Amino acid sequence: MTVTTRVPVLANSDADIVTAKTIAERWGLPSEARDDDAFQLWLNDGVLALHWLQSPQKMSPLVVDFHQGKAAYRAQNTQLKNEAIAKAVGVTGQFKPSVVDGTAGLGRDAFVLAGLGCNVQLIERHPVVAALLDNGLHRAQLEADDIGEACQRMHLIGTDNLYTGKGFTHEPDVVYLDPMYPKTGKQKAQVKKDMQMFQQLVGSDDDADALLEPALAHAKFRVVVKRPNSAPFLAEREPNSQIKSKKHRFDVYIKRGFNESAN
Ligand SMILES: C[S@@+](CC[C@H](N)C(=O)[O-])C[C@H]1O[C@@H](n2cnc3c(N)ncnc32)[C@H](O)[C@@H]1O
Repeated sequence: MTVTTRVPVLANSDADIVTAKTIAERWGLPSEARDDDAFQLWLNDGVLALHWLQSPQKMSPLVVDFHQGKAAYRAQNTQLKNEAIAKAVGVTGQFKPSVVDGTAGLGRDAFVLAGLGCNVQLIERHPVVAALLDNGLHRAQLEADDIGEACQRMHLIGTDNLYTGKGFTHEPDVVYLDPMYPKTGKQKAQVKKDMQMFQQLVGSDDDADALLEPALAHAKFRVVVKRPNSAPFLAEREPNSQIKSKKHRFDVYIKRGFNESAN
């Protein structure tokens, strides 16, 4: 992936200037607006929001807020037995595998797993996405409620760590992958507005096949790959099993069973 879109971090008020600069420096983003910016990040009262200035239709800014909308609803209504992702990752009432989410995006899947009790290390290579996720996580972690507690189990550890393992606090039980896959016809029409903005910014992850080997090297027990139902296997490698949901399937690559020891 080459990040070609220039996205500056800007402050809405004097009170946000210092933090906006810190965010820009941390993620290697510019701090000055330009007339031809397609996207801008704005910090308003500590909340970071992505604005798509050249969007074809009116769109609300994109914010990572685990206390709002579908994420919060899902966190409060998640039932272990109904979550295909939980089945694929191997979460049970007694066992909460530790997970590395190697393609964290806006942290939605990781949040479901953290809500079910898993400790999740997150890796996100796109600096704008990582900045939004980091901001959303920090704000959520300050809240003394179930959502804040779940977010405390989520740790954004960097941008390319799956290849190096650098920054891992421990080798995970499971590596979870959900790379971008080019959307076609009907799928494209179904994409929600915030996801359209996300896709416009990030594009497709054409190098995703390369993630499977390092994922298998790091996972103690299994690798789970989320794919649209119509997509081919990652790296053309057939999984050991599949869990299907309405729009997606989870391809499961087993290294060994959860109750088998390393030797
Ligand atoms: C489809 S999104 C993931 C959505 C996420 N599962 C969620 O629930 O919000 C894919 C993300 O993976 C990131 N990504 C792709 N390849 C990566 C890599 N090699 N290392 C880190 N992040 C990667 C992309 O930048 C993108 O943000």
